[in-house]
Amino acid sequence: MDMPSSSGNSSRVRIAIDGPAGAGKSTVAKMVSHLTGYVYVDTGAMYRGLALAALERGVDLEREEDLEALSERCDLSFRWDTGDFRVYLGARDVTEKLHSREVDGAVKVVARFPRVRQLMVKMQRGIATFNDVVMEGRDITSVVLPDAELKIYLTAEFRERVRRRWHEMVHRGEDVPWDDLKREMAARDEADVNRKTGPLVRVSGAVVIDSTGKTAREVALMIVKLCPGRNSVQCSGSGGSRGCPGSIRA
Ligand code: DC
Repeated sequence: MDMPSSSGNSSRVRIAIDGPAGAGKSTVAKMVSHLTGYVYVDTGAMYRGLALAALERGVDLEREEDLEALSERCDLSFRWDTGDFRVYLGARDVTEKLHSREVDGAVKVVARFPRVRQLMVKMQRGIATFNDVVMEGRDITSVVLPDAELKIYLTAEFRERVRRRWHEMVHRGEDVPWDDLKREMAARDEADVNRKTGPLVRVSGAVVIDSTGKTAREVALMIVKLCPGRNSVQCSGSGGSRGCPGSIRA
C-alpha cells in the first residue's frame, strides 16, 4: 500500500501522545486540542470502530483478510472538530458504543494485524498532513508521526489507571468487578507492549509524563508549555485556528 510521508507541510505542529490504557491520553489530548485549536485525533477510536463493525457483523476477529475486507465494506469513517473525534459506520454515529468491555476485548485482537494497522496509519498521516494535530494512541511517536514536533509518553501507576477506567464504566452504568477489570487491563497492557507491529514503546526524544495524582488540566497545561512556539499558556480559551472540522473514510 502506498503510504503518504509522515512529514506533510513543514509549518505544521504535530503533538504525538502515546501511553497505556487509562493514562489519561484522551482527556488530556482533548484539553490540549481546546487550548491550542489543533485537531484532536483519537486513534484508539479508529481501531475500536473496526472492532465494533466486526462484532456487529459476526466477522471472525482472528482472520486478517476478513477484517481487511470488512474495512472496505463497512463504510467506516471519521469526523473531527476541536476536541471531538467521532466514528461512523455508514450514517450511524457509533462513538458512544466504542468503550464497552466487548469492544475492549475485540480491539486488542483487531489491532494486532499489520494490514489493519497499515490502513489506520495511512488515514492518521493523512489527517496530520492537512491539520495541526494532537494525536494520541500507542504507535504515534514511533510509527505514525516519528518526526512530530512534540512527542509525549503519558503514563500513570497501574492501580490509578484501573481506578480511572472503573470510574468511567460505573459512570456509564456498567457493573464491572474490580478484579476482572484489573485482569483485562493487564492483558491489554501485555498485548500493547508485545504486539509485533506498532507496539507501545517509549521512543527516545519523548517527554515522559506520569499523570498519577495530577489533574487532566495540569497535564494538558504542561504539554501546551512544551509545545514549540508556546512557552507560555496565553492560549487558553477558544484556541487557535490551526485545524478545521473534517472527515476521512476508510
Ligand atoms: O486508546 P484506546 O484504549 O481507545 O485504544 C484501543 C485499542 O486500540 C487498544 O487496545 C490499543 C489499540 N491501539 C493501537 O494499537 N494503536 C493505536 N495507535 C491506538 C490504539
